[in-house]
Amino acid sequence: MLPSRAVAGSWQVRLHRGAKRKVNLLSGTLKASAQTGAGLGLWLPRLAWAALAYNVLVILWGAVVRITGAGAGCGDHWPLCNGVVVPQSPTLHTVIEFSHRLTSGASGLLAIALVALAFAVTGKGHPARFGALLTLGLIILEGLVGGVQVLLGLTAQSTDPARGFVQGIHLANTFALLGALLLTALWASGQPLLRLRGQGRAGALSAAGLVLLLILGMAGAVTALGDLLFLPADGSVGIGTVKHDYAATASIIEKLRVVHPMLAVLTSAYLAWLGVWLRRLRPGAEVLRWSGVLWGLLVAQMLAGFANIALHAPGWMQLLHLLLACLTWLAAVMLVYRALTTLRVSSVSGAAA
Ligand code: HEM
Repeated sequence: MLPSRAVAGSWQVRLHRGAKRKVNLLSGTLKASAQTGAGLGLWLPRLAWAALAYNVLVILWGAVVRITGAGAGCGDHWPLCNGVVVPQSPTLHTVIEFSHRLTSGASGLLAIALVALAFAVTGKGHPARFGALLTLGLIILEGLVGGVQVLLGLTAQSTDPARGFVQGIHLANTFALLGALLLTALWASGQPLLRLRGQGRAGALSAAGLVLLLILGMAGAVTALGDLLFLPADGSVGIGTVKHDYAATASIIEKLRVVHPMLAVLTSAYLAWLGVWLRRLRPGAEVLRWSGVLWGLLVAQMLAGFANIALHAPGWMQLLHLLLACLTWLAAVMLVYRALTTLRVSSVSGAAA
């Protein structure tokens, strides 16, 4: 029989079907409840990891809406589509936009289920509760940003500079959502709480790395918009485009297009260095693994970025670049999480490393 009182630092889960039994959530005990088959608590980590994978697919489908120019497929109506709930005899653009709204709506329902399950199977103060609520908040924000974009007509061929700004916010919120989902899945799987205070330089430099990657992603979203709206007549994307982007007549979205690759080189160099540094100051198998994964993804993403330019940003390459961007972000969040929850090597002075 499991101990009735949970030890400090581990978490409690309540099981349903009347058998109120307090169980220590750390993986050992979870297996115990699985054997006894009463594991509603087992569904929380499963749902969280599934929601993470599902939302990456929703993000990619969102890019299909942009790449196909289908953003106005439901007119400037939101949340209705062309003024109705279910569009009748829809065009291809309406099908693409409407299915994006349905799949985003489903990720909202998933987040509500995550909150309900987290509160049902975890005890007061469990971090999975916070993660699930944060996820739900970010998904609502995601929907609102998308709604504002449609209601303001910042879709399809709109070249309003505000569209670049909204697209950037949309991308930043998307990355924050993926980060929240990853942390929720880790906490639901019994991984340790992340304390931000007292993390010293490791905390500050890791946060700087995540902020840089977020800004890089936002700049990428503006570049993607530039490629959609301002492809030169011959369709080429390259040095010719850079010269064109810096002509006096070029719009702000065009001028910003070249910032992304430059920022990518800077950010990749910084994250590569951060990996080396965290390996030295927060040594551990997980830091070793996730710094290696991040380096691999950075190389792949940089190559994909240059290939994107060389190939004139075809739709499939844009989707691959976006998928790698999501995976690079998740790997960076995972490295920082592991480093900041790993025992630290304190310097002789005892200052936090
Ligand atoms: C760590 C490195 C990089 C990251 C994390 C990254 C991330 C992104 C993101 C998030 C987007 C927006 C995608 C969308 O909204 O659908 C994007 C677009 C773009 N990026 Fe990058 N990028 C990186 C490196 C590069 C490099 C090195 C280049 C070129 C030399 C590049 C060229 C482009 C282009 C042309 C677009 C617009 C076309 C598209 O959507 O694919 N990227 N990038």
